Amino acid sequence: MGDVSHLLKSHIQEGKPYNPTAILRLLYQERPEYARLMGNELPYGISPQARQAIIDEIDNAHLYPDSSYYELKQALSTYTGFPDTHIVVGNGSTQFIDALYYGFLNPGDAVLFAPPDYAPYRIRLDIYGGTPQLAPRSPPDYGWSVDHLIESVTPETKEIVIVSPNNPVGNCIPESELRRLLELDLLVVVDEAYYEFAGTTHKPLIHEYSNLIITRTLAKAFGFAGLRLGYAITNPGLAAYLTKVMHHFPVNRITAKAAIAALEDTAYLDFVIREIKKGREYLEAALNSLPNVKAYPSNTNFVLTKFSAPDASSYDITQQLIKAGIIVRDYTGKTGLDGQFVRITVGTQKQNETCVAAIKHVLSH
Ligand SMILES: Cc1ncc(COP(=O)(O)O)c(C=O)c1O
Repeated sequence: MGDVSHLLKSHIQEGKPYNPTAILRLLYQERPEYARLMGNELPYGISPQARQAIIDEIDNAHLYPDSSYYELKQALSTYTGFPDTHIVVGNGSTQFIDALYYGFLNPGDAVLFAPPDYAPYRIRLDIYGGTPQLAPRSPPDYGWSVDHLIESVTPETKEIVIVSPNNPVGNCIPESELRRLLELDLLVVVDEAYYEFAGTTHKPLIHEYSNLIITRTLAKAFGFAGLRLGYAITNPGLAAYLTKVMHHFPVNRITAKAAIAALEDTAYLDFVIREIKKGREYLEAALNSLPNVKAYPSNTNFVLTKFSAPDASSYDITQQLIKAGIIVRDYTGKTGLDGQFVRITVGTQKQNETCVAAIKHVLSH
């Protein structure tokens, strides 16, 4: 076999993979039984009705899905209150990150971000050769500074990405601030992956602004991280355009049926949200009671936690927690965060308590 390196794109060849191999090995091969408090997954599994829908659909697995996703969009329409003409479905909301780049960006275009936020937006932008523009938010509370964002806009800026409720901080952009961004002649993407845990949404603004696209996922509140289903809500013109941009069969038929059942199972969703909010309150209070620890108030299913003891490194804390069977997200070097941070997903109450006890133990040694 000859050398094919001249056929590759060097910026992709040189880029880092999203998940370091060591973490994947730990999670999926070495320690699959450890408490997974690193990825904002749901600890309770999917709705029992969704589970049954998967079993019922198995015998149709050899058939293509309906590529118009009629039934799925009807269910999402009932859930969101928007007609199906406003809805586009995808293989997780991550698929929209790509579609919003390859569908809209021309060479030389830039995308503006307010880090700290969800890193894949920049990792994927690099693949498409777009230019990132950063208007970081400031410590200590990482609130939204729309003045800073507006000042950072250049003639090259084509899109602004706002992750709200924010990952990793857990805060939401106020509507008045978002409106100021929507007044700009740019595509504004609001990632509401954690909407259900906040209970507030910016979706009514879709009726007023034709440049707003809201992306959502069933990976978080519905527990579909492994099944993969995301959707976008926007005006019918942009929805039709985005549908052309998407893959032809982005959602498999088993996931589609499971999603329809999950969206109808409001009792299960209510249970999940109630439990996650309880767990979040517990984690925030328990972590804030520890010296040199600050848990950020969260509208999500995770708690950003800052360690400020002189010798506390987030890397060391994360490694010590792994020894106690708990995997959290270490934010060493995270763009936009200043200090030692980890992000802890709200787990079962037992996992939350074990995690707090392990942190206490690590800090006292
Ligand atoms: C802000 C944000 N958007 C999108 C995603 C990915 O969602 P999905 O699993 O639907 O691709 C995540 C997952 O962590 C996230 O935090």
